[in-house]
Amino acid sequence: MTDFSTIYKLCLLTVTCCIQACSSSSSSRCPAVECWLVQDHVSRRGATTQEKSLLHIRTDANSRDAASEQIPSDINPDRVFFITDPAATLCHQSLSPPTRGSLQKAQCEISPFLHQPSTLKWVAPLTVTGFSPVYLQADWFSAALLGLNKQLIISSIMRSPTATKEPNVILSVSSKTVSVQARLGKPVLLDCGFWVDPSSPLSGLGFAVEWRYQFRGKGRLVLAYDGKTDRVADTQEEGATLDFEGLHQKGNASLILQETKVRHSGTYICTVHLPYLQAQVAVELEIVEPPSLSIHPSPLPLAVPGQTLVVQCEASGFAPLSLELSWEFKGADGKSRPLESASVTGHRQAWDGTYGQSTRLELDTSNLGTGGELTCVAVHPGGTRRASTSLSVIGFGSPSIEDSMAMVGVALVLYGLIKVVSWTFSSSGTDVADKVEKKEK
Ligand SMILES: *[C@@H]1O[C@H](CO)[C@@H](O)[C@H](O)[C@H]1NC(C)=O
Repeated sequence: MTDFSTIYKLCLLTVTCCIQACSSSSSSRCPAVECWLVQDHVSRRGATTQEKSLLHIRTDANSRDAASEQIPSDINPDRVFFITDPAATLCHQSLSPPTRGSLQKAQCEISPFLHQPSTLKWVAPLTVTGFSPVYLQADWFSAALLGLNKQLIISSIMRSPTATKEPNVILSVSSKTVSVQARLGKPVLLDCGFWVDPSSPLSGLGFAVEWRYQFRGKGRLVLAYDGKTDRVADTQEEGATLDFEGLHQKGNASLILQETKVRHSGTYICTVHLPYLQAQVAVELEIVEPPSLSIHPSPLPLAVPGQTLVVQCEASGFAPLSLELSWEFKGADGKSRPLESASVTGHRQAWDGTYGQSTRLELDTSNLGTGGELTCVAVHPGGTRRASTSLSVIGFGSPSIEDSMAMVGVALVLYGLIKVVSWTFSSSGTDVADKVEKKEK
């Protein structure tokens, strides 16, 4: 009976938990997001203001929850938005308000958005149909959000019937790879997904996707896709492609680079265009490749104590250019210690964009006993690499002070012995001579 009741209780508990979990996940309420309302004021000669605001997010326009609509005292009620986001992109947990005491916060900025037809070659066809602008006559906003720990970046365009402060998300573009590190020569995926409100008259008129690359102020097109005619309008990067099926079915506009090169490091901007609207997110790609190490000469020649050996360690094939080279020596006692007196050369760049650098060690072998293990250490953002070689020191060293003292001691003792022996012999020799002399007398 006890077993049965335990099982019964467990079942009940499981069901309760499930109901709670299900109800919370299907809830149309999401955490409110603290945001900055940034506005340019034409009337005030273009001055920009930044005010605290609050975004209440719900996935269903009909659900209004009084509890979640309490307005904090430090926020002007005019700066509170009630946003409907059926795709729940803005409900991500990384956008939740920070817990007490945590320093990190999600970032959010909302500002009025100016819709206009694009003049880009692959976007212009979207607006040629002479779409009625009545729908466009509303308050439009654009919100940019960055989740905690860069888990997510979102850019949303919203339409609010004039003066209601109740915007509906019409277009969201987001990425879960805000900052990507990739090894050299591997394929890499830069995530970008978009969602268009299917009930908007702008949906179904076609879309365009554009990926641009930026590095140190210079930009260029990577790939432009015209969703209206379903073709790649332009591509300027070999091996860059999209998942065209996923693009139409799931709004998956992720960029695939089939083979990463050093020159791919930089910022990639994914822009999704609808007629009159566009939203974009930027992601960072860094190609990080640790160095390969080699030691010259290898193997090291045998050294005699006091000889200075010149040893080189060459690091090659690494990126980015951020490397610390050093040397270590592990003697017979098994302890590693750093070696100074090394010089590092300037860097070179190879044809594939990777870097090379070397270090030259002038190794004084007089304090290294009979030898040990010599290691070249390279510390790089892609990982620490080591290369080792063994060092043998042969022959006798110049004697130490203790040895000299001992030798002097031994010499003295020997000298003493010789003295004693020779004195004994010579004195007995005299005795014999004396006796002989006496006999002769
Ligand atoms: C988007 O497409 C790429 C390539 O097919 C795939 O690896 C990735 O998982 C897709 N992303 C989503 C969110 O479906």
